[in-house]
Amino acid sequence: MLGATGAVGQRFVERLDGHPQFVVSRVAASERSQGKPYREACSWRLPVPMPEAVGALTVQDLTPDPGIAIAFSALTADVAEEVEVAWAKAGVAVFSNARNHRMAPDVPLLIPEVNADHLSLAACQAETRRFPATGFLATNPNCSATFLTMALAPLHRAFGVEAVSVVTLQAVSGAGYPGLPAIDIAGNVIPYIAGEEAKLETETRKMLGRLDNGVIRHAEFPISAQVNRVPVVDGHTESISVKLAQRVGLDEVRDALVTFTGEPQERNLPSAPVTPLIMVEEPDRPQPALDLDRNGGMSAVVGRLRPCPVLDFKMTVLGHNTVRGAAGGSILNAELAVARGVLGGSR
Ligand SMILES: NC(=O)c1ccc[n+]([C@@H]2O[C@H](COP(=O)([O-])OP(=O)(O)OC[C@H]3O[C@@H](n4cnc5c(N)ncnc54)[C@H](OP(=O)(O)O)[C@@H]3O)[C@@H](O)[C@H]2O)c1
Repeated sequence: MLGATGAVGQRFVERLDGHPQFVVSRVAASERSQGKPYREACSWRLPVPMPEAVGALTVQDLTPDPGIAIAFSALTADVAEEVEVAWAKAGVAVFSNARNHRMAPDVPLLIPEVNADHLSLAACQAETRRFPATGFLATNPNCSATFLTMALAPLHRAFGVEAVSVVTLQAVSGAGYPGLPAIDIAGNVIPYIAGEEAKLETETRKMLGRLDNGVIRHAEFPISAQVNRVPVVDGHTESISVKLAQRVGLDEVRDALVTFTGEPQERNLPSAPVTPLIMVEEPDRPQPALDLDRNGGMSAVVGRLRPCPVLDFKMTVLGHNTVRGAAGGSILNAELAVARGVLGGSR
């Protein structure tokens, strides 16, 4: 666990406790934390007890350890770039939450229900980056791009998407811990998050793109994103309008959303939710306070599906930013890699 002490790192520690395939054997963070037991270095912010075995581990520096199979990275972008490459060069499979390598053409940017086939890009890195057979970089998307892509994927598959407008209401935990000063965000809305709109507009198209002979052809439809930071602790809400390539009715759109499923469900991966999308029909849902933990935070919750007088349809989507939007998504990626036999140089 690289960056084990932060908001996302803590989610990893929580979600890997008792995992049937993975054990946290080493935790690493900044000089501020190194040399301390994890329980002292980390300001634990989750409403469950810290797993004792991890609490007793001494926080290490970021030097690669070739004896480890998987490195989950929850590092900030200023350090992730070089550190993650160094671990992959040491023969470790790196599953990253940081933005640095997401858009590289030879790096899979994954939501396993959406584009599990993109994982095969990992094999290219032995050639493109001279990584040893067991080492590669795989990434999960920006948290808001995660929920936008999960909602668009079944519509793009069934009808083709032609244009998207999305407005986000993003939780403060999306900025890490301790994040924004309370005085800046309490009772306030900040209509700017650096780099976030571009991530929504580009990462979504990469994930919905087609893998063609080892090259991802990005989906071509335009996306207009407007982002806001709001005084909610966890959970990103998105108001999405979408124009489709075919004329279809509301029932067909609803059906595509509720029947959406993918490889994690087929393979029954340990972190896979029963359904990646949950539809709620009450007119005032989904809400972060009420709907965030459905399916353990691994599903996106869709509501308010209705016609849009400008584009074709509109809806509200809610997702857990540090679970499906970060640690939980990354663990699901690693489970997919195990199930597909991609770990250990056998790819
Ligand atoms: N928060 C979210 O909802 C979310 C969602 C998706 C993706 N992400 C991405 O996930 C990553 C982690 O985000 P976060 O919210 O967990 O951030 P965070 O709470 O600020 O945690 C950052 C982690 O990186 C470590 N770190 C910082 N500088 C370091 C250095 N120079 N050397 C070694 N370790 C260093 C910190 O260690 P110390 O505790 O020792 O300082 C801490 O463990 C970021 O790249 C972020 O963009 C976050």
